[in-house]
Amino acid sequence: MTKLERIPPVITIDGPGGAGKGTISYLLASRLKWHLLDSGALYRVLALAAEQQSIANTDVSALERLAGGLNVSFQPDEGALGARVLLKGVDISQAIRTETCGNLASQVAAIPRVREALLQRQRAFRKQPGLVADGRDMGTVVFEDAPLKIFLTASAEERAKRRHNQLKDKGFDVSLRALFDDIQKRDERDASRSASPLIPASDAIQLDSTDLSIEKVFDRVMVEARKRALA
Ligand code: C5P
Repeated sequence: MTKLERIPPVITIDGPGGAGKGTISYLLASRLKWHLLDSGALYRVLALAAEQQSIANTDVSALERLAGGLNVSFQPDEGALGARVLLKGVDISQAIRTETCGNLASQVAAIPRVREALLQRQRAFRKQPGLVADGRDMGTVVFEDAPLKIFLTASAEERAKRRHNQLKDKGFDVSLRALFDDIQKRDERDASRSASPLIPASDAIQLDSTDLSIEKVFDRVMVEARKRALA
């Protein structure tokens, strides 16, 4: 196989919500000039589309069909540190960031047939020169062969604080206590589900970002990327 035919490399960034995955993934993809997959956004879009079509989160067949034909696209948007998310051409970037949507996403994400229906769509993001994939099961299921896997965590208190600040910046008014409770509930559901639970891959590097700045976390990931000749 020539160098040009080499399978595009992937760096996976998994972990619970609010650990800093989104920011680190964005910074990494920008620095390496690689593609970026925000897999959580796909589950959020699916949850929103299901809500718009009044599909119950118990109607597995309808959810599976919806996931398979989801008309979603991502457009680079540097101002928003990531991508604008479009559902049937309509910008839903803000609508999918609410806590309600996050909770609905975590419910539909627990359904194995839904996860299966989104698998190929996620793998299609793997293109040259490389991909940074942000999610829960990027290193354990979707890109099991990734040469660098990071599992990023932080205490639930710290994650609730970060989420609170993020939401405030976006103009959402949510109580810190409610966020903390939500985060714990969502972690519990994500970690205890049978399909692709939130667990570190056996070959993942675990980083606790509770007391680390974004810059420090980014530096550590870059060190690991250089060790593997990815950067
Ligand atoms: O990361 P984000 O908070 O946007 O993800 C929303 C929800 O989607 C998570 O709570 C999780 O249940 C689900 N998800 C998942 N697998 C992924 C990414 C997200 O199950 N790879």
